[in-house]
Amino acid sequence: MELSKRAKTLKTSPTLFLVAKAKELSAQGHDVISLTVGEPDWATFPAPSRAGIEAIEKGITKYTAAAGTIELRKAIIEKIKFELNQEYKPKEITVASGAKFIVFAALQMICSPGDEVIIGAPYWVSYPSMVELADGVPKIIDCTEAEHFKITPAKLEAAITAKTRGFLFCSPSNPTGLQYSLDELKALAGVLRKHPQIVVISDDMYNRLVLDGSKVAPHILEAAPDLKDRTVVVNGGSKAYSMTGWRIGWAAGPEKLIQAMSDYQSQATGSASSISQYAVEVALRKCEPDIAEVVKTLTLRRESGTKALSGVPGFKVFRPDGAFYFWVDIKACLGKSFQGKLVKSSKDFCDILLDHYFVATVPGIECGTEGYMRLSFAVSEESMAKAVERMKKFVSELV
Ligand SMILES: Cc1ncc(COP(=O)(O)O)c(C=O)c1O
Repeated sequence: MELSKRAKTLKTSPTLFLVAKAKELSAQGHDVISLTVGEPDWATFPAPSRAGIEAIEKGITKYTAAAGTIELRKAIIEKIKFELNQEYKPKEITVASGAKFIVFAALQMICSPGDEVIIGAPYWVSYPSMVELADGVPKIIDCTEAEHFKITPAKLEAAITAKTRGFLFCSPSNPTGLQYSLDELKALAGVLRKHPQIVVISDDMYNRLVLDGSKVAPHILEAAPDLKDRTVVVNGGSKAYSMTGWRIGWAAGPEKLIQAMSDYQSQATGSASSISQYAVEVALRKCEPDIAEVVKTLTLRRESGTKALSGVPGFKVFRPDGAFYFWVDIKACLGKSFQGKLVKSSKDFCDILLDHYFVATVPGIECGTEGYMRLSFAVSEESMAKAVERMKKFVSELV
């Protein structure tokens, strides 16, 4: 069978591939510690869980408007007001089956063939493929360690051409856990302001999982409220509320683009699940205390994990500001041999770590930056400690 050109260039999500491989090894009876997937290890909070059951019992089980129920959109508006102090109307909000689809739909609606979307590397693994699926061109900017893996205004300016249509970024970042400060966002906004054709996609998936005691991560709209009419604010239930399987994400932005995204969804998935929408509405209204607890736990894990990983010879760890990822420089371990096999790349390193020590991690190259690996610390401190011991053993065997 002949598949489309699009199908031929499509790549499987590398993290989902690694998760599948870890599960396979587990099924063969190995004690696998998976630090790959970006998924909280805590349960969906009680209030939305009960709401999901209630939705089924009450018969809230039918199609909804493509943009999402008005009740959920109102709850999103209130949450954005609380978090970002920004006002939106229901027509400026759309809900979809996960924030992943929201980013995908936004790119579909802003890119014409050949349009460029600027993305800083290291990036979330899905961004470049999503741009390509929208017939756009991902314009990747390499961000160095000295720049804390963040785009500088000078690099942003240099990357902009007449074809630039989008600037897509995530703060706190997946994969580094580092976040832009308000001043850094102001400086980026200074560049973006000069180029009115650019739509800003602010992926805020981790903006509540901030580990410095603040309520929310600094935001581009706080830095530059004047960019609101061309900024898409993306968020969802998956991370802070641990509702990955419920598949609810949303966007707030200019009505014209939001309407187009809803129309796109109306022709693609129809709408997000009515049951999940009902549950997420309850999560948004009731779960601030639960988020505070989760942040406390993550803060403790960050401290113990940073300390443990820093004790592995050859590892350099960047203490994350938020999210639940460690971004580890493993360059000192590359170019060595393991049982006679050269460990050339982050992929080789992570493959051996999984095949021989049963610790699953994401090679930095999947995030566009060689010489690093990403570990999720959405696992218990015991699991992380055990994984670190295995990594130490692996590294000690490199010659
Ligand atoms: C940076 C980032 N954006 C968006 C998403 C999408 O989340 P979901 O589709 O589960 O809402 C993820 C999930 O891993 C993510 O890490």
